Amino acid sequence: IEDLAGIHTTLPFPAGVAIDSRETSGKAAELLTRHFDQITAENHMKPDAWYDDARTFRPHPQAVELMDFAAENGLDVYGHVLVWHSQTPDWFFEDADGAPLTDSAADQEILRERMRTHIFDIAEWMAADYGEFGADNPVTAWDVVNEVVSDGGTDDGLRRSEWYRILGEEFIDLSFRYADEAFNETYAAEGADRPVTLFINDYNTEQGGKQDRYLALVERLVEREVPIDGVGHQFHVSLAMPVAALEAAIVRFEHLPLVQAVTELDVTVGTPVTQANLIEQGYYFRDAFRVFREHADALFCATVWGLTDGRSWRADNGAPLVFDDAYQAKPAYHGIVDGDLPA
Ligand code: G3I
Repeated sequence: IEDLAGIHTTLPFPAGVAIDSRETSGKAAELLTRHFDQITAENHMKPDAWYDDARTFRPHPQAVELMDFAAENGLDVYGHVLVWHSQTPDWFFEDADGAPLTDSAADQEILRERMRTHIFDIAEWMAADYGEFGADNPVTAWDVVNEVVSDGGTDDGLRRSEWYRILGEEFIDLSFRYADEAFNETYAAEGADRPVTLFINDYNTEQGGKQDRYLALVERLVEREVPIDGVGHQFHVSLAMPVAALEAAIVRFEHLPLVQAVTELDVTVGTPVTQANLIEQGYYFRDAFRVFREHADALFCATVWGLTDGRSWRADNGAPLVFDDAYQAKPAYHGIVDGDLPA
C-alpha cells in the first residue's frame, strides 16, 4: 500500500469510491485513504435508508459512520441519492390509510410535501451534525434524481416510476428545486450560494438511444431553468464497450452550462478471469482515464463503484475494479496512474 502513488494525487479532479462501513477501518481504510479523496455511500444514503420501521426519519448508522470517516480523514462526500424509483419506502406512495396515491391534486400535494420533507430532513441533519456546507461539512455533491430515463418504449423518454405516475415529469423539477432550497437554507454563510453541486445520474448513457433521451431531458430541465448543475454518467461497462463511447457521451453534453461526473465506473472482464484479461482491463482504465483527464474542465469527479473486486455488485461478471481482494493494485491501477503496463 505504501509504495504506490495515491490515485487522487495523479488526477486533476477528485478520485471517488463507493463504499459501506466495511471500508472505514483496517486495511481497507488504509488503502482507501491512500488512493481516494472522495466517497459515495453505496447503499446507506438511498431513500429507504433514512427511515426506521416506524417510518421515522433518522440517519442510518452506516451513513453516520461514513460521514464521520470522511470528516476525520478530510474526504469529500458525494451524496447518493435523494430521489429514486428503487430502494424507496412503499409508504412514500400511499395515503394515511395505505391506499396508493393517485394523480389527483390532493394526492400530488401529499407526495410533494413528502419529497420536500425528505430532502430537508437530510440537509438539516447534515448541517446540524457536520457544520455548514462548504465549511466543515464534507458533502460537496448530491445525486438529486437517479435513473429517471426509460430504457425505451415511452413517448417522453422517461421511466414509468411511482414518482412519475403520481406527479408526471414535474417530479424531476421539484426534486431539484427542493434540493436547491434545502442546501441554500442549511448553508448559513451570508449571501453565499450552496457549495453542493446538484446532479442528475443515469446508466447506459454511453449507449445511443438512452443517451438521446438523457440529453433531451437535461435540455428540457436547463430550458425550464431547473437548478441542476451536473450530469452523471454511471459507466457500468465491460471490456467490449469501446472507450470512445465513454468519450462521446461526455462530448455530447459539453455544450450545456453544466459540469459532468463519472459516478459509478466499473469494467467487467468476463469469466474465468485471466491474467491476459486483467492486463487488457489495465489498458481500458488507462484509455478511459486519458479521456477523463482530457475532459477535466468538464468533470467534477470520477468515481469507481467499489474498492476491491470481491465487494463489487458485479463480481460475478469478472473482477471489475482497481484493487483485488488482497488489497493489491491490479493492472487497472497502473493504467490509471502511470500507463506502465506489460505488453
Ligand atoms: O443488507 C442486506 C443484508 O442484510 C442481506 O443479508 C443481503 C442478502 O442479499 O442483502 C443486503 O442488501 C443488499 C444491499 O445491496 C447491501 O449489500 C441488497 O440485497 C442488494 O439489492 C443491494 O444491492 C445494491 C443495489 O444498488 C440495489 O439497487 C448494490 O449493493 C449497489 O451497488 C447498487 O448500486 C446501484 C446504484 O445505487 C445506482 N446505479 C446502479 C448501481 C448498481 O446496481
